Amino acid sequence: MIPSAPPATSDKTHSFDVFTHYERLQWKVSDLRLEDIRRDLVCPEYISLVKGVVMGEATSLPGLHGFLSEFHDDYDCSAFVAVWAYQELQHHYAFRAWLKAVDVHIDQDKIEALREPYEAGITPGATLTTNVISEIIVNTVYRAMSTWVEEPVLADLFLRASRDEAGHAREFLYYLKLRLMRHPEELTSVLERIHFYVTSPRLNHPVGVYKHQRVAEMRGYETVDDVIDVYLRISPPDAMGKLQVKLRHMLGTAVGRDLRRNSDIRHALADSVAAQAEA
Ligand SMILES: [Fe+2]
Ligand SMILES: [Fe+2]
Repeated sequence: MIPSAPPATSDKTHSFDVFTHYERLQWKVSDLRLEDIRRDLVCPEYISLVKGVVMGEATSLPGLHGFLSEFHDDYDCSAFVAVWAYQELQHHYAFRAWLKAVDVHIDQDKIEALREPYEAGITPGATLTTNVISEIIVNTVYRAMSTWVEEPVLADLFLRASRDEAGHAREFLYYLKLRLMRHPEELTSVLERIHFYVTSPRLNHPVGVYKHQRVAEMRGYETVDDVIDVYLRISPPDAMGKLQVKLRHMLGTAVGRDLRRNSDIRHALADSVAAQAEA
């Protein structure tokens, strides 16, 4: 098992541990047994769901681009991001392969329109926070889809991707903790990101906020927001609340505070701003 908390003095080789760990777990698109798809169990709702998933997964390249720029002075984190981006590209192609196997075409122009890099975050720490949130949400959503979808090949794919996303959340959290150890001045920007996502009445996925809602070509096409809508519709009423609890717990471990209540986040923000003013 790879460590989830950075050591006091990092040896800067965490990405190699991740690389070897992922190598052991890595699956292939050819493992999916697309030839065994149960077409009688494929309903139209799955098609628009998977199209939205493909559009979400297709944003890993602009993510990689942005990360390599923002972390140009951090080889270890950049190396991890390269490994992460390969897995996300695999998700993109794997869900696309399922669509192709059921004769559904994805408009390549939409994919191309997503290529532009993300805007840089307020700070690198804020960017890592956004990615922790993104990975926790997709891990949870894909896990729910894996039990809801009746077509077994698609259900298996959602489960595989969900497990990968859990690993991504863990690693981004590791690098966020490390970033805050080295750059405590980024804490305020990190808390602002947390506040935005965990106190919103709607479940916002960062890919929707920063990409799909801003790219004109995506209008009228399936997006990650449609995936979230399906998730909320098929889940018990307390699903979003449980997801918020999970986000608050994991992000709380990064900033070293209990973030269970909104007032906890506001107090942490006020303390961080005051500490910066004193510094
Ligand atoms: Fe993914
Ligand atoms: Fe991921």
